[in-house]
Amino acid sequence: MRKWVKLKPGKSKKVRKFYPLVYRDEVADVSPSVEDGDLTVLLDEKGKFLAWGTYSEKSHVAFRVLTLNDEPIDSDFFASRFRSALAQRRHLQGVTNALRLVHAEADFLPGLIVDCYAEILVVQVRTKGMERLKNFWLEPLIELMQPKGVYERSDMEGRKEEGLTPFKGLLYGSVPERVEIFEHRLSFLVDVKEGLKTGFYLDQRDNRKLVQSLVQPSEQFLDLFAYTGSFSIYAAAKGAECTAVEQHQHLVELGIEQAGLNGVKVDFRCGNVFEELPKLATEGKQFDFIIIDPPAIAKSEKQLSSLKKAIHRVVKDSLRILRPGGRILVCSCVYHMDWSDLIETVRFAASDMEVPLRLLAQTTQASDHPIRLHIPESQYLRCLLLQRDF
Ligand SMILES: C[S@@+](CC[C@H](N)C(=O)[O-])C[C@H]1O[C@@H](n2cnc3c(N)ncnc32)[C@H](O)[C@@H]1O
Repeated sequence: MRKWVKLKPGKSKKVRKFYPLVYRDEVADVSPSVEDGDLTVLLDEKGKFLAWGTYSEKSHVAFRVLTLNDEPIDSDFFASRFRSALAQRRHLQGVTNALRLVHAEADFLPGLIVDCYAEILVVQVRTKGMERLKNFWLEPLIELMQPKGVYERSDMEGRKEEGLTPFKGLLYGSVPERVEIFEHRLSFLVDVKEGLKTGFYLDQRDNRKLVQSLVQPSEQFLDLFAYTGSFSIYAAAKGAECTAVEQHQHLVELGIEQAGLNGVKVDFRCGNVFEELPKLATEGKQFDFIIIDPPAIAKSEKQLSSLKKAIHRVVKDSLRILRPGGRILVCSCVYHMDWSDLIETVRFAASDMEVPLRLLAQTTQASDHPIRLHIPESQYLRCLLLQRDF
């Protein structure tokens, strides 16, 4: 007997229109035997099949769609999903050996992230359903990608809502302390065990390249919230003089090593951006290009105002030291911060400083983090490239 989750009247349309998440208040009933994380079918209000997916007992997302077809969910299903995800990333061959292979529901695999760093895979399991399906997906993933090692980085807070404890550890083979990867002929060191996210900000790849194409040799380049300074390394390779500000000493050390690996110099400052910016102004420093890439400090819509305040303050302080004609890239990796929120926040800061800004481009995450039109949340990275007029 199939286990099932039945929707309330009027709630099936969005599922048919490719939105994969069903919220708890949209569920009318579940079959008596359903347990947390179970693979179940989703039924419309008349009891007609809608989808296969997984049920969550605790999360506000009660059901996640795996497929709209009535098909077996087994190793072959996952192997086929992985093959098509890989095929869609073929254009990155030669550009990089580090990419996001699976971007959860945007690759029709809700709850699963897979990042490839050369011969190492890093997986992140965000839902109880995907956790329970591990026996079906891990083997085909290894078979397709033939990695030397698979490491799990499910050490994020979000798992608690699913009733899962944060976890990290080796799943297969062996994984070195640092993995060397390349991107556009530059080399980077990825700490897959301790680094933020799964070790590297793959989503900024295209923005790093864009910035590199615009920055000029000898320009003064400032990289705020630098992580291991990947934006700086692109800019320094072009001949810019780079300063990078990051608050964690171990990331700064990795950044310095990474710069050395590429034969470039980056002046890393270990400190808090909010304190370092006024110091740079006092030192009389001026910059031609400033990157502002803060962390996701707002996880929910409610916390959005604190992110807006932080961006407002950093943009204001950055404009004090941005030369006329200089460019600034302001990023937000929080889905709830939409384009108009971000533009308004930057506009308010520029108005406070009486600095006129021109919007040169609006950019987003790299293509290995697919954006599905039917899943608005799949676009989470928004960046504004702006130029100071005078
Ligand atoms: C989104 S990541 C930056 C990613 C980076 N631009 C890249 O492409 O690799 C944000 C970084 O900001 C750092 N950070 C957070 N708050 C900070 C603060 N107040 N001052 C300095 N660094 C901070 C975090 O440690 C993290 O490395």
